[in-house]
Amino acid sequence: MMNLISNNEKETRAIGRALGESCQGGEIFCLSGELGSGKTTLSKGIAQGLKIKKNITSPTFIILNSYTIPKNSKIKKLIHIDAYRLKNTIELEGLGFFDLIKETNNIIIIEWGEKIKKYLPAKKITITIKNINSNKRKIIIS
Ligand SMILES: Nc1ncnc2c1ncn2[C@@H]1O[C@H](COP(=O)(O)OP(=O)(O)O)[C@@H](O)[C@H]1O
Ligand SMILES: [Mg+2]
Repeated sequence: MMNLISNNEKETRAIGRALGESCQGGEIFCLSGELGSGKTTLSKGIAQGLKIKKNITSPTFIILNSYTIPKNSKIKKLIHIDAYRLKNTIELEGLGFFDLIKETNNIIIIEWGEKIKKYLPAKKITITIKNINSNKRKIIIS
């Protein structure tokens, strides 16, 4: 387990970037934290660390976004999910989720991941973001 403090958006992005750079393929990031805690900000950092040039946006309404990762022999795609509005397993199935999580050359990020925790493998990276004040966050990685 690792406890980090972020004092601003830029620091959260940098933590994400480091996580992205350390990916080997097959990582599943399960992100928890209240609205506005910085889950999307951290996700943007992870994408940056994976050398994705495109500016990633919150998949709140469409639930799942997929990004191609350039020039990487091990990692092909970043799958960014926002489980907040997810209604049921059928919807998850319809998004191809159960196939996507099996791929060892995908990286999966799930915001509000605790909502679908029972469908996630034991081997995952759980990140909890806690608001300390308006800009300060505690980021717990386990
Ligand atoms: N330390 C910090 N880390 C991340 N975001 C921060 C921080 N301090 C302030 N913010 C602000 O909080 C908001 C986080 O939004 P976002 O990443 O979309 O959160 P979430 O996806 O958890 O709803 C942004 O407006 C950002 O500027
Ligand atoms: Mg978000």
